[in-house]
Amino acid sequence: MRTIDMVKENKDRVIIFDTTLRDGEQSPGCSMNLEEKLKMARLLDDMGVDVIEAGFPIASKGDFEAVNEIAKIVKNAVVCGLSRAKKADIEASGESIKPAERRRIHTFISTSPLHMKHKLQMTPEAVLDSVHESVSFSRNFTDDVEWSAEDGSRTEHDFLCRCVETAIKAGATTINIPDTVGYATPEEYGALFDMLINRVPNIDQAILSVHCHNDLGLAVANSLAGVANGARQIECTINGIGERAGNAALEEVIMALRTRADLLPYQNEIDTTKITKLSRTLSGITGFNVQPNKAIVGANAFAHASGIHQDGMLKNAQTYEIMTPESVGLSESKLALQKHSGSNALKNKLKELGYELGDNAFKDFFTRFKELADKKKEIYDEDVIALVEDAAPETEEVIKFVSLQVHAGSKGPQTADIVLLVEGDEKAVTCEGNGPVDATFCAIREIYPHPEAELELYQVHAVTQGTDAQAEVTVRLREGERTTSATAASADTLVASARAYVSALNKLLRKRDSKNPQTARDEVNP
Ligand code: KIV
Ligand code: ZN
Repeated sequence: MRTIDMVKENKDRVIIFDTTLRDGEQSPGCSMNLEEKLKMARLLDDMGVDVIEAGFPIASKGDFEAVNEIAKIVKNAVVCGLSRAKKADIEASGESIKPAERRRIHTFISTSPLHMKHKLQMTPEAVLDSVHESVSFSRNFTDDVEWSAEDGSRTEHDFLCRCVETAIKAGATTINIPDTVGYATPEEYGALFDMLINRVPNIDQAILSVHCHNDLGLAVANSLAGVANGARQIECTINGIGERAGNAALEEVIMALRTRADLLPYQNEIDTTKITKLSRTLSGITGFNVQPNKAIVGANAFAHASGIHQDGMLKNAQTYEIMTPESVGLSESKLALQKHSGSNALKNKLKELGYELGDNAFKDFFTRFKELADKKKEIYDEDVIALVEDAAPETEEVIKFVSLQVHAGSKGPQTADIVLLVEGDEKAVTCEGNGPVDATFCAIREIYPHPEAELELYQVHAVTQGTDAQAEVTVRLREGERTTSATAASADTLVASARAYVSALNKLLRKRDSKNPQTARDEVNP
């Protein structure tokens, strides 16, 4: 069923449109490879989002392929490709989403005076023509077409009404009014939807959609104000990733709708217990950990530290808890397994945590589990998740980590002896550095020089509590316009660091080989 028919059937149904893989992914440092995008798409589909904006197919061959592959695996959600108001863009989107059972083309053009004059250098009449042409051309590929007025919140009302009416006449079934620069306030943004509903004669033939950026920290409030004033689609991203300060965070929007259903009586199909897993998976992929006090998914979001709060919680959880940790899929750290746990126990645990590994992946996981269990007495669910998420090295990787010995401490020099396999040849070096991490990275650079790449991010966090906790290390490398991130976990922080670095470097080498550098995307990105 098309989303417009879903909303016609139930006027309080709100369509959840996830753009983590498009608006989120195009922000600096958040780029994902095909495998990672597929993993996210599967989880989003499983969580119950209605629409997955899978990418911007014209941007590069890699983007096209990602949308196309996502279109093949998504079971329930509508798969959407973004396009400028250009035939080539729309054709690329149309072609890439073809395998999807339910597919959408999303086409956009700027409508604000500022954007039309300086960015597009087009007159309002030419923009109106383009709205008509792009939407009607999109209808050749699918009957589910979304049209967006880029910088809509700063567009003159009369002109916005004309554009919206034209887009609907041309066949758009969703009309999105983005607050592209995160400038609107909730009252103002809500009033915009009220205005459109009152003034556009054919408005009942389309769903109105909100798309809010968070430059003033108002993205979620603005999104909810839009819905309260008649919008029935919310565009959002996991962890709120996106351009500049990001987009409205899906988890915040959804939990606000659920927790304040008394004021916001709108329905959606999201399984909220999947939120934590999605948030953590995305952080693992991008290396963007959320701040500890981030609503819903931050490490402290359900922690009650002060004495007064703890006392209240013990008497009645509702004194300080407006939603339960379980409702977002957060359970207390559970003792999962021990050294002697066998492969069946491990398979059951993986299943319980929502993972299914193939035979080879399981074998590799089992080996790494045993290695960890030798070092760490108690293995928690979080440890198991970190081990699975720390993907096994792929067979075709150019560089493989073999071993590391480090000399650290207050009496220098700090040195690292590292052994790597480079295209099958074993290479070993010893390097001195400014501390053990620096020495380790220096040794990797010496074995496989990559002078153009710089370390953009190095981040360590403990997976569980205690001094024997696994360290999860994220490394992000930048080479010109290309960035790659990788995460690795180990009970030894330095081993995790070396493995994360090697993995990020392998990804960079793969990107170098592809003929679709990020620059190609940047040239066309909205
Ligand atoms: O923020 C924005 O205006 C966008 C559009 C391309 C929908 O992301
Ligand atoms: Zn946007």
